[in-house]
Amino acid sequence: MEYYIGIDLGTSSVKLLLVDSEGKILNTVTKEYPVNYPRSGWSEQNAADWWSAVGEALPELLRGFDGRAVRAIGVAGQMHGLVVLDKDDNVIRPTILWNDGRTDKETAYLNEVIGKEKLFEYTGNIAFAGFTAPKIMWLRENEPENFAKISKIMLPKDYINYLLTGTHCTDYSDAAGMLLLDVKNKCWSREMLDICGTTEEQMPKLYESFEVVGTVKQDIAEKFGLNPDTVVVAGAGDNAAAAVGTATVGNGKCNISLGTSGTIFVSSDSFSGDAAQAIHSFCHSDGGYHLMGCILSAASCNKWFCDEILNTKDYKAEEDAVGKLGKNEVFFLPYLMGERSPINDVNATGMFIGLRPNTSRADMYGAVLEGVAFAIKDNLEIIKQFGIDVTSSCLCGGGAKSKLWRKILANVLDIELNIPLTEQGPGYGSAILAMVGAGQFDSVKTATDKFFEIKETVTPDKELVALYADRYAKYRKIYPAVKKLYKEIKE
Ligand code: XUL
Repeated sequence: MEYYIGIDLGTSSVKLLLVDSEGKILNTVTKEYPVNYPRSGWSEQNAADWWSAVGEALPELLRGFDGRAVRAIGVAGQMHGLVVLDKDDNVIRPTILWNDGRTDKETAYLNEVIGKEKLFEYTGNIAFAGFTAPKIMWLRENEPENFAKISKIMLPKDYINYLLTGTHCTDYSDAAGMLLLDVKNKCWSREMLDICGTTEEQMPKLYESFEVVGTVKQDIAEKFGLNPDTVVVAGAGDNAAAAVGTATVGNGKCNISLGTSGTIFVSSDSFSGDAAQAIHSFCHSDGGYHLMGCILSAASCNKWFCDEILNTKDYKAEEDAVGKLGKNEVFFLPYLMGERSPINDVNATGMFIGLRPNTSRADMYGAVLEGVAFAIKDNLEIIKQFGIDVTSSCLCGGGAKSKLWRKILANVLDIELNIPLTEQGPGYGSAILAMVGAGQFDSVKTATDKFFEIKETVTPDKELVALYADRYAKYRKIYPAVKKLYKEIKE
């Protein structure tokens, strides 16, 4: 028996999966760690917390299994976070995360002074506050002593790969989100490195996600009872790995993920993009490309409303109380951390509108779930402008477990939603990448063809689609009306 380990380094926790060569999940372990919000709109995490969580989870994952039979490891991770190492490979400062909004000045400089057309020419993308390049510029301006110490720049999952193997590496799917990669040509952009005051020597070596970057270090093998020949692949950004976990590979397939963030991901064999659109054009982990819209707060809106506002952990009871769909008079804008795609606005905040004396808790709860679905639809509408006809999608992530949310989403988007049999999107995807790296499959597609199965399909209902089309038209008017106000009340 041979095993593979898939690791998903998420924002709230790390999830580890032990998978056999038939794709069967034998064990999973999750360990949580905190996100720190040192100022409003900022979010950081300690890289050391990730590693302690992985170190705690690995022995639990392997308990009762022969660790020496693990053939390969793949790590997927939260994207865009800035991890900086000094000349001795020590972490210089806490990681600035993907949903941190501190770089509005740097992002505006990139989009307005360098210009979106130039950025698109260099990288295939425009700038967003969460991307890595504006974070490097922020560091240069605000923490010059830390900036001066930088010997290596990497992304969250690359730090885990570094600790496992001792190599400084990244993969194209994750590197694409740095705004430092020429996505179309799959190489670092000299222009962008210059703009950020960095050099190619400071960047990790680039690999395809399924390529082997090394074997586990001797001390790691001994500590966890692994075979020193266990290979580690470059891994992927969490969305590209989730797409592998849901067989969203090749041309024109769609995956939607409702995790802390919400994403809509369309795979493609070739590069496409547009400087006018706030949609990302990134590399995929199958060797191709993809378009993606990302909303910063998805399942995190549900978690916030239940945990912090309603003070309950019984999400199911809140769902069960929601009445007839499509008739709610309450609207919710899900911009708890500002918003990425498509509005690209760090000043936007969450907001309820339409409250009356007879508004119920259930109306507000329903509005939260609907608001996230509408924000995903904003992105789908833009993807359609690329001439892509999305009629069905996979749905994964924690939010996909909610039957109510699935129904709302299918009807708001007016597409069929396929729920995969294996719900572990990024972790399962990275285990598959590990299998390809170890030579069990000749391509990512061959592997997903073998393993992917749909558990259930949610089909939209004509009447509800019409009701939601009407509600979406109203929802669309709210943000433009308050956009200016968001900035004014922040100042
Ligand atoms: C994608 C993005 C998020 C993070 C969250 O661009 O920022 O989906 O990867 O894990």
